Amino acid sequence: MNLTPKQKEVMDSFIKENPKILLASGAKRAGKTFVFVLLFLMHIAKYEGQGLSFIIGGATQASIRRNILNDMESVLGKELKLNKANAVTVFGNKLYCFDGANADAWKKARGFTAAGALLNEGTALHDSFVKEVISRCSYKGARVLIDTNPENPAHSVKTDYIDKDGQMLDNGRLNIRAFHFTLFDNIYLDPEYVESIIASTPTGMFTDRDIHGQWVSAEGVIYKDFRKDVHYITAEQFEKVNIVKYFAGVDWGYEHFGSIVVMGIDDKGNIYLIEEHAKQHEEIDYWVKVAKGIKERYGNINFYCDTARPEHIERFRRERFRALNADKAVVSGIEEVARLFKLNKLFIVSDNVKRFDKEIYLYVWNETTGEPVKQWDDVLDAVRYAIYTELKPQRRRDRGDKNA
Ligand SMILES: Nc1ncnc2c1ncn2[C@@H]1O[C@H](COP(=O)(O)OP(=O)(O)OP(=O)(O)O)[C@@H](O)[C@H]1O
Ligand SMILES: [Mg+2]
Repeated sequence: MNLTPKQKEVMDSFIKENPKILLASGAKRAGKTFVFVLLFLMHIAKYEGQGLSFIIGGATQASIRRNILNDMESVLGKELKLNKANAVTVFGNKLYCFDGANADAWKKARGFTAAGALLNEGTALHDSFVKEVISRCSYKGARVLIDTNPENPAHSVKTDYIDKDGQMLDNGRLNIRAFHFTLFDNIYLDPEYVESIIASTPTGMFTDRDIHGQWVSAEGVIYKDFRKDVHYITAEQFEKVNIVKYFAGVDWGYEHFGSIVVMGIDDKGNIYLIEEHAKQHEEIDYWVKVAKGIKERYGNINFYCDTARPEHIERFRRERFRALNADKAVVSGIEEVARLFKLNKLFIVSDNVKRFDKEIYLYVWNETTGEPVKQWDDVLDAVRYAIYTELKPQRRRDRGDKNA
C-alpha cells in the first residue's frame, strides 16, 4: 500500500516517537482518516488474540460506518458486522463503536479499560466524551488517534491537544503529537477533482479550513462571493430562463421579519430567487394568504419551513400546503449557499427583492461563537432552508457528504 509523504510522516511518528495521543487535523479529503485506520489496525494487531477492548468514537453510528468501518473492511478484506452492543471482533480483540456527539455520551465509555481508541471527527464529539475515552485508554501501551477538520481556534480539541504538540509524560514518553494536513497533501486525488473542489469552496473561512486545513475563526461578511454585477438579473432576463422546478423557503418571524421566498431551478441546475415576501408584525393568517398566492402562481410546491414554530407548520398543512421541515444545520447550510455564489449558480431576480439587498451585505459572522450574528438574516435564512433542504438528496449522491 502506498502512502502520501504526509501519511508516511505520521506513520513514522507513530512507530518511532510512539506518542500516546496522535492527532491529524486539517483539510477535507486530505488522507487523515485513511492513515489512521491503517495505524489503528496495526496497533490492534500487536495485541492479536488477547481479547482486549478498543474504542472507535464518531459523531453517530452512521458516521462511524461511513467514515471508518467501510475503509476498515477494505483494508481487512472482510465484512465487519456489529453485534447488538455495536462491537465486532478484529484480530481476536473487541472493537466497540460509540457515538460521542451528545453531552451524556461519555457514560458509554465509563468503566472501560481500553488498549486504544480511534476518534473520528474530533470536533463533532462532545468534549467530555473525548476526555473520558482518553482516560479509559489505560492499558499498557494504549494509543489514542484523533482525526478532525479544523473549527474555531478556541475549540477544546485545539487548545487541549493540538496546541500541546510535543508534550512529554513524566516517564519520558511523548504524550502528544499533532499533524497538520492540507488538501495538497493527498497526492492520490485526481488533479481535476482537486481543481473542482477549490473552485467550489467559498472564499474566506471555508477555503482556509477545508483546503488549507487552518484553525481560523469566521469573520466579516458571510457571503463573500456575492457580487451584484454577476448574481443580480432583471425580471426581463429571467423571462428567458427555463425553470424546471419551483420550491419555497419559510422563516417565521414577528418581531423579526417573517419571510417566504420562492426559488426555482433551471434546466442547467442554476438556482434563482424569484420572489421575496418579508414583513414584520404579521400573524400566521397573513402568511397563509401569501402562501395561497404562491400556490396559485406556481402550483403545489414544497415549502421548506423553519421548525421553530411547529404550530405554524401544522396550520400550513391544514391549509393543504406541502409544508416540510427544513434542515437548519447552520454552517453547512451557509456553505451550500456560499458554494452556489462561488460557482455562479445562484441568481437573484433583482426587481423582486428589497430586504435581500440589505441583508446580503449586513449578514456577518460572530467571531467569538463562530455562528452568524442573528440579525439581517430573515430572508437569507429562508433562502438557506430552501436551498439546503432541496439539494440534500443531490448532495448525498454527488459528494457522499459526511453530514448529510
Ligand atoms: N495513501 C492513499 N492511497 C490511496 N488513496 C488514498 C490514500 N490516502 C487517502 N486516500 C483516499 O483519499 C480520499 C480522502 O482520504 P480520507 O478520507 O482519509 O481523508 P480525510 O482527511 O479523512 O478527509 P475528511 O476530512 O473529508 O474526512 C479517500 O477516498 C481515501 O480512500
Ligand atoms: Mg476523515
